[in-house]
Amino acid sequence: PIAKPVLGIESSCDETGVAVYDLERGLLAHRLYSQVRLHAEYGGVVPELASRDHVRKLLPLVRETLAAAGLDVAGLGGVAYTAGPGLIGALLVGAAAARALAWSLEVPAIGVHHMEGHLLAPLLEAEAPQAPFVALLVSGGHSMLIAVDAIGSYRLLGDTLDDAAGEAFDKTAKLMGLPYPGGPQLARLAEQGQSGRFRFSRPMTDRPGLDFSFSGLKTQVLLAWQNSDQSDATRADVARGFEEAMVDTLRIKCLRALEATGAKSLVIAGGVGANRRLRAQLAEAASRQGFRVFFPRPEFCTDNGAMIALAGALRLQAGQLESNAIKVFPRWDL
Ligand code: KG4
Ligand code: ZN
Repeated sequence: PIAKPVLGIESSCDETGVAVYDLERGLLAHRLYSQVRLHAEYGGVVPELASRDHVRKLLPLVRETLAAAGLDVAGLGGVAYTAGPGLIGALLVGAAAARALAWSLEVPAIGVHHMEGHLLAPLLEAEAPQAPFVALLVSGGHSMLIAVDAIGSYRLLGDTLDDAAGEAFDKTAKLMGLPYPGGPQLARLAEQGQSGRFRFSRPMTDRPGLDFSFSGLKTQVLLAWQNSDQSDATRADVARGFEEAMVDTLRIKCLRALEATGAKSLVIAGGVGANRRLRAQLAEAASRQGFRVFFPRPEFCTDNGAMIALAGALRLQAGQLESNAIKVFPRWDL
């Protein structure tokens, strides 16, 4: 049981996120520093540059967040950090800082699973879901359907057999010449595109099951793009066709997962959860079919410190204790 707020640190990839969360008062402050511009010229995240930038930004961000929360470090009751999965050097920056800070303050530190953070991010909102619920976790590294029976009790219902949903967005954007990170840009283009000019298949929806596969879709887009006039208008139309196929596929599988589990609530998490078409389509399906859907606000769909502070606070409250060893898990099943 912890009576004081928990500091959360996220540094698994290319965002440094810091937040302070209090189990009674909610989120007190959060700050994010994105390294996107640093990596853009390389067309992807460069792990060593990511680690160095976390080193540079983390402590200033901790100070800034504490000040915004009106807290002194002595006001903290615990420190949570992302322990994996992610880039090892990037993870170690957050883990070392969190463990050192907690040790010096004589408060507990806790390593949080990045995906559990994403999964619980909707709990940061005023209208929070209650377990049991089904979660669609769609990020740059994952596309999973998870049954959340209780907080801390997760069952994997479906997974991707190849590319993750966000990865498919990013790779599709890249093959049409959009700069890294292409997912959000592709989504913006799709909004201007014409519906129906390009129709791609909805992978693996023609057979039972909750797994995903997106690499075939990407290949279909590549062929359509290569055989087109490659104009700006066509790029937007292809983007529209891709986004519609992706969103349809995710919606169909979410409905199946709700049916299979009997759950009445659906939670959307991870970076692709920021996608406007996905949000609109699922909200519409929910009102039509009588289930509830919960989304974190878009800034808490992508990587952030708030979800880590929240997940850590819940684990500390549940009495979970860890040794002082600085351990990270670049690969780690939920
Ligand atoms: O959760 P996240 O920030 O990082 C990971 O843990 O992977 O997710 C990032 C992913 C990227 O692949 C990005 O292209 C995708 O989320 N993404 C989007 C949108 N915003 C971010 N994909 C589609 N539409 C968006 N609006
Ligand atoms: Zn993430």
